Amino acid sequence: MKRLLMLVCGLLCLHGVKAEDYFVRTKNSVMVLSGEKGSRLNFVYYGPAATLDEIRATGNGLWWNAYPAFGTHCTAEHALLVQQADGDNALELVLDQVREYREGPAQVTEFQLKDRVHPLRVAVRYKAIPDVDVIKVSTTITNDARKPVTLQRFASAYLPVKSNELWLSYLVGGWGAECQLVEEPLHRGRKVVGNHDGARTSFVTHPSFMVSRGEPDEQRGFVIGGTLLWTGNYELSFLRESNESVLEIVAGINPEASDYRLASKESFETPELVLTCSTEGKGGVSRNLHRWGRQYQIIGGTQPRDILLNSWEGVYFDVNQEGMERMMKEFSEIGGELFVMDDGWFGEKYPRNNGSTSLGDWTVCREKLPQGIGGLVDAAKKYGIKFGIWIEPEMTNAKSELYEKHPDWVLRQPDREPVMGRGGTQLMLDMSNPAVQDHVFNVVDRLMQENPDIYYMKWDANFSIENAASLYLPKEKQSHLYIEYHRGLQKTLQRIRAKYPDLVIQLCASGGGRMSYAYFPYFNECWTSDNTDALQRLYIQWGVSQYYPSNVMAAHVSASPNHQTGRVTPLKFRFDVAMTGRLGMEMKPSDLSAEEREFAKRAIATYKDIRPVVQQGDLYRLISPYDKKHYVSLMYVTPEKDRAVYFLYRTQFIRSIPAESRVLQGLDPDRNYLFRELNPERPDKKGPLDGKVISGRVLMEQGFYLELNKELTSAVYELIAQ
Ligand code: DGJ
Repeated sequence: MKRLLMLVCGLLCLHGVKAEDYFVRTKNSVMVLSGEKGSRLNFVYYGPAATLDEIRATGNGLWWNAYPAFGTHCTAEHALLVQQADGDNALELVLDQVREYREGPAQVTEFQLKDRVHPLRVAVRYKAIPDVDVIKVSTTITNDARKPVTLQRFASAYLPVKSNELWLSYLVGGWGAECQLVEEPLHRGRKVVGNHDGARTSFVTHPSFMVSRGEPDEQRGFVIGGTLLWTGNYELSFLRESNESVLEIVAGINPEASDYRLASKESFETPELVLTCSTEGKGGVSRNLHRWGRQYQIIGGTQPRDILLNSWEGVYFDVNQEGMERMMKEFSEIGGELFVMDDGWFGEKYPRNNGSTSLGDWTVCREKLPQGIGGLVDAAKKYGIKFGIWIEPEMTNAKSELYEKHPDWVLRQPDREPVMGRGGTQLMLDMSNPAVQDHVFNVVDRLMQENPDIYYMKWDANFSIENAASLYLPKEKQSHLYIEYHRGLQKTLQRIRAKYPDLVIQLCASGGGRMSYAYFPYFNECWTSDNTDALQRLYIQWGVSQYYPSNVMAAHVSASPNHQTGRVTPLKFRFDVAMTGRLGMEMKPSDLSAEEREFAKRAIATYKDIRPVVQQGDLYRLISPYDKKHYVSLMYVTPEKDRAVYFLYRTQFIRSIPAESRVLQGLDPDRNYLFRELNPERPDKKGPLDGKVISGRVLMEQGFYLELNKELTSAVYELIAQ
């Protein structure tokens, strides 16, 4: 009888009868939920702003379980699976209370759910940030029972999407080939985008996705974008099973090997899933995320970023005072602003000459740098540039003083030989251990105390959790390791940021292995890839731009032939590619000819001029490298639409292809724009559009013809509203 009553109640709610409706609104979108006390909370709609009458009339609503738990009336997918102390794992969540409040820029609607039988509470929160069209979803699970319970699934968010033809876009990669864009239709069945590296969150896939209605398009169509704010293992699941026209998206920490024991009266806070949607295709979703990122998520996201030279590809481990000084001098002569000394500067007992020793021993190697870090900071001052330094503080090597002193600080199974990483000797420290957290904090703190003028740090991480056991956590909490590692890391980063809010820190993990919004409250930018080949970078950077703004995308001009691919590429092409992100160099400037140095000097000066447009402007992707059109193109436009920078690259020349008009986007149709060619090979030889004035309307409706007749050539134009 009780079951029958519950079923009737479920059906009533399913149709929205008597339920109250809740609207989570942003400037251009709305999410609707519906429920009443004692009944299931329903998810009704997420999409472009619409009234409830319109949602009902058009049939776009769903009235679907908003946070399905395992065990009762389940949809095919569950967001929550909790095992009670007595082994029961069923839950039936009903609405208890709704709270609405403000939190910083966000308007929060919090639904407090509780189980009908067990003393378990679940708060599902929707935080709307109206001006950037973002809604952040997260959950808190509280165990009010007297005994501990085990969380086996604990998703941040559950999102049902109604539509027949949906496509998924996401990023996949690996070392040297990060952020490759994959787009595929979502057929029936389950698709999982997940990571269990333990440390390098985006070494393979990224915790971000777009779901498009119909085949993905840059300019048109309805697209939902999401990105999970968790620095560790994650799982994004897309299930199309229970009903052909509903896609169930579940996003959260990866529950694999992560059963979480929740003590009596303890709460578990999930990370947030950031959602946005647009009717302007994938381009619209990217621009929303970029705006939100710069404005609200990335530390210093609206500040200009310096042009830097990083020493890695110039000298690798061969660091010494004279070589560093020479690079600083040469870089300052061509207009550089910041010099970063990469790996190879540390280790007293074991000098760091290759990847197999010394991580953990963060004292300067006096043999290489007799004047210490101070000597380098002084040299940078002499040349009028800033100074930065590389660290990899979460790691150690079996051959290091740190490991000799603290063998119990590394992650390893007590009864097995540890698997070792880079150089055959690298080990990860156990960030769940507070003593290790102090050590990592002290690495930064000591460097900063001794050298307060260090302006920038490159924080690297070149290993995964391959020995998934902690010598610090108790036996019954070993399955917390993947979570506690990241809680420990985040705690340490918060401590560093509380003390050093202005230090610029680059996130690096064997290239772009950690690029994720979860890191950006602590890291100003990301090393995009160890692959610095300009042609390959067009693909990698195209992928990055799907989710992340240009100012976090470190893009460096390196030597030719390229060290990773052997490709010979003109310097102009290399600069033109790097100038779409945060420009830098990754080579010895002395390896350039005098003529090339002059070009580099002009390009750096040009970048300084267009920096606000590139680093803060709205991105419009015009020709995708994946379309194999032999061209790639993109542009940035200021929010005021008074300046734009247009980039066109010829990537291949296999045969002549018919000329196509270059149609622009994002301009003001009612203004005229003056074209100014940037980075011409020779200052006195300008391209055909230079000096022309054309209206925004013509540029966006008809475009113009511009061909590049050689492979690996490029053209860059600034457009200035008249
Ligand atoms: C991996 C990074 O991606 C490189 O840029 C460089 O910093 C090396 N580590 C140094 O060991």
